[in-house]
Amino acid sequence: MARAVQASERAYCPYSNFPVGAALLCADGIVFDGANVENGVNSLSICAERTALFKAISEGKHDFVKIAISCPKAELSSPCGACRQVLFEHAPDMQVLMAKADGSVLRTTVRDLLPHGFRLRS
Ligand code: THU
Repeated sequence: MARAVQASERAYCPYSNFPVGAALLCADGIVFDGANVENGVNSLSICAERTALFKAISEGKHDFVKIAISCPKAELSSPCGACRQVLFEHAPDMQVLMAKADGSVLRTTVRDLLPHGFRLRS
């Protein structure tokens, strides 16, 4: 979670002013950080969770243990629906750690965040 908080400080979010950071732990112990990177064309922006996941996959990682998410301006650092879908494709049983404003961490799994999730590939 500390890595996710640090990553949020590197967010590029001039439009929303809503920084998000994520830290993804791979099975081999390597952690990939990600931050949200916005664009003046809103649909081209990317969330912190997908930044971290795509960085890891593009470096050849495919086994993931957990992801920590920090939205310092939110009550609960809950991943958006698009990120849930993308995480579900690659790591449906991965743990998800969501920072809360009171300093505690809510733990769940991708599967619990996306019940009956869609997968094209079986
Ligand atoms: N955002 C994330 O990075 N992750 C989420 O799961 C929710 C939303 C970003 C996208 C956008 O840059 C900003 O937060 C406001 O929606």
